[in-house]
Amino acid sequence: MVRSTLYLLALVPLAAAKPLVSRRWDSDFEVKHAWNDVPKGWKCHGPAPPDHVLDMRIALKQDRLDISSPHWRYGQHLSKEDAEALVAPHPDSVELVDAWLAANGVPLTHVERLNGGSWLSILVTVEQASRMMNSTYSIYEHDTTSEYIVRTTSYSLPSVLHAHVGVITPTTYFGTMRGMRATSFLQPQIRPLDNDIETAPKLTGPTSLATVPSSCATTITPACLRALYNTTSYVPQATDVNRLGVAGYLEEFANDADLQTFFEKFRTDAAGATFQHVQVNGGENNQNDPGVEANLDIQYTEGMSFPTPNVYYSTGGSPPFTPDSNTPSNTNEPYLDWLNFILAQSSVPQTFTTSYGDDEQTVPSDYATEVCNLFGQLGARGSSIMFSSGDDGVGAGNCLSNDGTNTERFQPNFPASCPFVTTVGATTRINPEVATSFSGGGFSNYFAQPSYQSSAVSAFLTKLGSTNAGLFNTSGRAYPDVAAQGEGFQVVVGGRIESVAGTSASSPTFAGVIALLNDFRLSQGKPGLGFLNPALYSTLVDGFNDITSGSNPGCGTNGFSAGAGWDPVTGLGTPDFGKLQALIG
Ligand SMILES: *[C@@H]1O[C@H](CO)[C@@H](O)[C@H](O)[C@H]1NC(C)=O
Ligand SMILES: *[C@@H]1O[C@H](CO)[C@@H](O)[C@H](O)[C@H]1NC(C)=O
Ligand SMILES: *[C@@H]1O[C@H](CO)[C@@H](O)[C@H](O)[C@H]1NC(C)=O
Repeated sequence: MVRSTLYLLALVPLAAAKPLVSRRWDSDFEVKHAWNDVPKGWKCHGPAPPDHVLDMRIALKQDRLDISSPHWRYGQHLSKEDAEALVAPHPDSVELVDAWLAANGVPLTHVERLNGGSWLSILVTVEQASRMMNSTYSIYEHDTTSEYIVRTTSYSLPSVLHAHVGVITPTTYFGTMRGMRATSFLQPQIRPLDNDIETAPKLTGPTSLATVPSSCATTITPACLRALYNTTSYVPQATDVNRLGVAGYLEEFANDADLQTFFEKFRTDAAGATFQHVQVNGGENNQNDPGVEANLDIQYTEGMSFPTPNVYYSTGGSPPFTPDSNTPSNTNEPYLDWLNFILAQSSVPQTFTTSYGDDEQTVPSDYATEVCNLFGQLGARGSSIMFSSGDDGVGAGNCLSNDGTNTERFQPNFPASCPFVTTVGATTRINPEVATSFSGGGFSNYFAQPSYQSSAVSAFLTKLGSTNAGLFNTSGRAYPDVAAQGEGFQVVVGGRIESVAGTSASSPTFAGVIALLNDFRLSQGKPGLGFLNPALYSTLVDGFNDITSGSNPGCGTNGFSAGAGWDPVTGLGTPDFGKLQALIG
């Protein structure tokens, strides 16, 4: 808040002394992004106060880093400095945007330049922002939470800036902390296990797979997953350098005492192991308020990767808008804050998992593109980044498009649809594993299909024929890439064991396996795996158990079916650590 106060003092006289706006900047506007309607779930409450202060971020387009056709391969990672040099904007972009800001009364000394200068952070008033972007900011109220945010349903930029500016926030992204739902749900119908003393002893040793007990078909513990995915006999060696990060949002707190209870019951050899809490952008760590999502994530990343050090990031959002307050607000765009935080670190964890997402169509495409590029940059820094694929199959509800045509379309999820993350769908049962019916899968309408997956995807599309034709984008980035178990996870929450389901369970599980593979590489003096996807679809393709039955219905259809090879329900399948270890060499 110190920073805000300083800026506010500076802003007041500027707002009063009406800044000169040259003709060059107040005409020739072209729409950058606009919605047809106020996004679903929100209603307009009234105009935003002109003196309300917005914490504005501007992404400048990258000049050099074409992350979409990576010339780098796994094992060739960029330092923070090299990555920042690559994403640095062209000097013309800096000059033009600076001139535009100055013409609108924004003192350049107050512009904070992040990530090699590719992101600008400034405080502006609603009055300034409206003039800069020929937009109308209003206060919007959420239908169910009654929270207020300040947004606009469209924004424009002088046409000369379009080639230089990727996205400006806060503008048309209405997603809030609550909108970004976690993808896990309780399963009260499954009776939780008291502990693992029955199953765990049977699951150790190299012959474990033959002995996966039938209980793993309904209740999952780390012992089940370690046996199923063939990690039981691997002993991590690189625990001095390897780290696994869990990104948490929505005031979901990972509880230390619950983790110990979990270890006592389900992974006794890990008793006493802890994890690091990192608080980002005002994120809290309330140990009296354990979150189901947070506990699920940390209990299963540690349960799979012990003794690899784990880190839990609790990322806050700015408080929602409170009328009559001059507190800058409305960042509420937590992926950006987390990404800017993590990219500013000189060393980053080799593996990440995130279990949050939302319908792609509710995220403006310019915002989604810039956030996705930042995940690409993090991959280029050497991180393998997992996301859960979503829990609504091909889409929930009536699946109408929001482009004004109200057409029925499958609803892909973002960030699952970003090609720079590895997206994890869900399976259940054993011998064989089958797809869960909720496993999110589909095709992006924003991101083109990367070449690394095109042959796997076209083989699927050929078999599919005309089924679901017109409901999805055959040229889009297809997901999930891979899968892991996603039902009946035994999670300790507030001292009690609950059964939890969701691709929220699958992503930490898969990330745990990847953390062990990274350990193996690091222990041999090699770099970690980094961005995984190109390798998954080529050199590593035989390291997966193909899942060939089950489907993911939604949008009033039967969805897609799992079958031999890649499919948009379970991707390439579930991991076999032993085989993957041999393939990564
Ligand atoms: C600004 O937007 C309004 C519509 O909201 C439009 O009528 C007007 O022409 C625009 N102004 C400029 C200078 O482009
Ligand atoms: C399909 O995806 C491509 C990107 O691959 C995109 O350009 C196009 O607009 C999408 N089509 C629809 C109808 O969304
Ligand atoms: C498990 O991994 C080992 C190598 O560690 C491999 O030989 C074996 O085939 C794998 N088990 C299965 C069932 O795939």
